[in-house]
Amino acid sequence: MESCSALDTQGGGDGGADGIAVAADAELAASIMAHHSQPSLILNQVWEGFSFAGKQIRIKESTDLYGAVLWPSAIVLCHFLENNLDKYSMADKNVMELGAGTGLATIVSSLLGAKVTSTDLPEILANLTYNVQRNTKDHCRYTPVVTELSWGQQLEERFPRSTHHYDYVLAADVVYHHPFLQELLETLEHLCQPGTQVLWAMRFRMDIENRFVERFQQRFSMELLYDLPSLNIKLYRGWKP
Ligand SMILES: C[S@@+](CC[C@H](N)C(=O)[O-])C[C@H]1O[C@@H](n2cnc3c(N)ncnc32)[C@H](O)[C@@H]1O
Repeated sequence: MESCSALDTQGGGDGGADGIAVAADAELAASIMAHHSQPSLILNQVWEGFSFAGKQIRIKESTDLYGAVLWPSAIVLCHFLENNLDKYSMADKNVMELGAGTGLATIVSSLLGAKVTSTDLPEILANLTYNVQRNTKDHCRYTPVVTELSWGQQLEERFPRSTHHYDYVLAADVVYHHPFLQELLETLEHLCQPGTQVLWAMRFRMDIENRFVERFQQRFSMELLYDLPSLNIKLYRGWKP
């Protein structure tokens, strides 16, 4: 994991193949980051402000846990969700978020009308629950459910494929230097059935982790939805062929 602030977006990518690509990237990156307002310090709590789905969203972070910090991939994913409802409607859809962290994508997809199961490791769930409840209570058709999902563990016991069908699996910045990449792949495979679409925002860091894209591509069909070299982020759609 990088030592810089999670929302430090100076990616240092190659800037695209030509001037048009650079301009398109810069314009899209600027409109994505415009959802974010400056953090404020209130009573020793670090907050990040966001504007999505016509609402002001406040996300509480914790500086001592990676999962309790908001990463820019989540903003990219939320921008895509909000701006592509005609093709990727969230209304009444079953959505699973993996590695939800501080919960921004869970909150935005819930505000957009989805039935969301928001998951992460046990130590992340208290802050995740707080953010999800604070930002969705009385604003959503379906109350999002926050629950543990440690990648690769008890998948069929807790999320049986016969009864758990997801329209979307959301994942923002879940690929980085950690020892559970194989388990993450197994989890994606378990959750994806015919009709399931994975919307996965990937921040590119080290080659060893970046090669996860090739492993994903061996098992899923893939489409590139956003390419943002200035943020070092790509957004993919994946589905089972
Ligand atoms: C870089 S953070 C991204 C958080 C959030 N999606 C965002 O973009 O702000 C990675 C997330 O994956 C979660 N994670 C890491 N290893 C995990 C595992 N083995 N099982 C489940 N979640 C895991 C972390 O707790 C963390 O919330």
